[in-house]
Amino acid sequence: MIGIIGSGNVGANTAFFLAEKGVDDVMLYDCLEGLAKGKALDMMEAAPIRGYRTSITGADRPDQIFDCDIIIITAGAVRKSGMKRDELFLENKKIIDAYASKITNPDTKVIIVSEPVDLLTSVFVKSSGLSANQVVGLGSVLDATRLRYFIARDLKVSMENVSAQVVGRHTDDMIILRSYCSVSGISLDSFFSSDQVGKLFEETRQAGRLIVDMAERASAYYGPSAVAAELAEAICLDTGRLFSVSHVLPGTFGIKDVALSLPCVMNKAGISKVIQPRLSDEEIEGLRKSADLIARTIKEADHA
Ligand code: 2OP
Repeated sequence: MIGIIGSGNVGANTAFFLAEKGVDDVMLYDCLEGLAKGKALDMMEAAPIRGYRTSITGADRPDQIFDCDIIIITAGAVRKSGMKRDELFLENKKIIDAYASKITNPDTKVIIVSEPVDLLTSVFVKSSGLSANQVVGLGSVLDATRLRYFIARDLKVSMENVSAQVVGRHTDDMIILRSYCSVSGISLDSFFSSDQVGKLFEETRQAGRLIVDMAERASAYYGPSAVAAELAEAICLDTGRLFSVSHVLPGTFGIKDVALSLPCVMNKAGISKVIQPRLSDEEIEGLRKSADLIARTIKEADHA
């Protein structure tokens, strides 16, 4: 069973994508009474046409979620136009801490979607007592997915042929690994000028903000939901796929106790292997600066 906390745009669409994929039964929960059951009922009424083999139900109480094999946390405030993701930290930290202390299944795997994802993933591991490989945050895989779309769009090629790699924080200072972005293994330099590559990378950095500005009342949710469903599928079906997800680093690049995105092998254990890609000194320095900022922000919050 996959439990989803939060039945707003992200939570409900994640349930929808999981049903479309037929990954596992899903239980939705929301603090707004009736919302989870209503959304679950609405989606299941599409089942005869969509051919769902799995079920979506709505929980009455959050404790029905805490025993699930996989828990996806989408609850919390979303940023408004002009806000940075980190401005949500103190408010959403309260929600994350509350849920982290209630987990009853010691083997559960947790996917954090709420923002700011790196900070919340770091505190969730600390507050829940789960091991670092059991807790992943959406992180850079969303940025890499967006960049794949932008490259395919501009080249008019299939998105299946485009790969992109992003590490670090899911913020404007994400680190896009140019040498690991390619079209069927062919480097971007064979298709774009340096200026064009720079524009694609900047579009990726600003993509989340652009949607907030355009949609006004909501931040992105189709992209985040698609990624959350993909990660849940990798864990559920033990696929071994690689994703650059936010997780508390075990000392990689000399960084520990804070969550940043690096490519990880995802399977039924959660993270089974952290990949240490070859990075330039500048890229490693960027990771370490991000780690220091996360550690400082958490320390300030603990003393707030
Ligand atoms: C985004 O990048 C919601 O932070 C998420 O759109």
